[in-house]
Amino acid sequence: FIGFYPSFVQTPAVYDDEQIGFDEQTVIKFSHVVAENTPKGLAAQEFARLVQEKTKGRVKVEVYPNSILYAEPDEIEALQKGNVQMIAPSFPNMSEVLPSWMVLDLPYAFLTQEAAQEAFEGKIGKLLFEQLNQVNMVGLAYWSSGFKQLTSNKGPILQPDDLKGQHLRTMRSTLLDAEFQLLGAKTTQMPFNLVYRGLESGTVDGEENSITNIYSKKFFKVQKYLTLTNHGYLGYAVLMNRSFWQKLSPEIQLQIQQAMKETTAWAYHNAIQMNDEQFEKIKLESQLQINSLTTEQLSEWMRAWEPIYPQYESVIGTELMDEIRRLRK
Ligand code: LMR
Repeated sequence: FIGFYPSFVQTPAVYDDEQIGFDEQTVIKFSHVVAENTPKGLAAQEFARLVQEKTKGRVKVEVYPNSILYAEPDEIEALQKGNVQMIAPSFPNMSEVLPSWMVLDLPYAFLTQEAAQEAFEGKIGKLLFEQLNQVNMVGLAYWSSGFKQLTSNKGPILQPDDLKGQHLRTMRSTLLDAEFQLLGAKTTQMPFNLVYRGLESGTVDGEENSITNIYSKKFFKVQKYLTLTNHGYLGYAVLMNRSFWQKLSPEIQLQIQQAMKETTAWAYHNAIQMNDEQFEKIKLESQLQINSLTTEQLSEWMRAWEPIYPQYESVIGTELMDEIRRLRK
């Protein structure tokens, strides 16, 4: 018996007509935009499996991958309205709703995987999740796709100047547009499910993404150059509709939290492994010219993007900026 929500739990508008918990089975629709064979896709499935196990089937998580239900930006609205109960949007999509989330998309914000993890588990992760109350969401975890790399058809991108005249697809983020435009690129925002076609048809020359997204959506088949820049971090906020969450019994909430904790620990290692494995597959399965940056080139990129930090200080807020500067040291 899941139901029976205690009187101190406020009944929010969106779910007024439903009796979550009195049904035999509570269904959580979890919508996302990437392929199943990705860190996010597999983490969503693992979470579904663990919820099933821990709640003994009283809660069922239905996973809808590949933008089957919603692409960006509609997935956010679908969550807020309660058309789905869970999504895991990448950080750029979050910053369009809550601008201080831009802190996670600053260029070279994280120099190591561990630094990103420290941010998620520490002050930054906590402060950003606190803001979700305002937008009818609850943050359950931070997941990772991996570091972002640059791909293009127009020419190898090895130094900041190579971006001049390139037309890049960007995720939904004014910050990411500003980062590339600062270095002379033209940008066009495009939902993830349109990127392959955009690259293939030449609407855009290139894009930035994690290796697992480049592999699973076959971007590498329609690109000539890939540079391992690691210039940004593609991560996800794993979110639940707040009104829905508050209607779950404390017991179910605990089981879901436990399932999420285990999933997240597993997903962290799985993402690293998948990026390594799929990078090897890209090398085997493509004609792509792959470049790495020299230490000197890396410093050039960091120097070129430095003006973004003071420019976005007031949008992001000093507390978050101070913490990201500490993590970058
Ligand atoms: C993209 O739009 O390229 C990514 O944010 C997709 C994703 O969710 O990993």
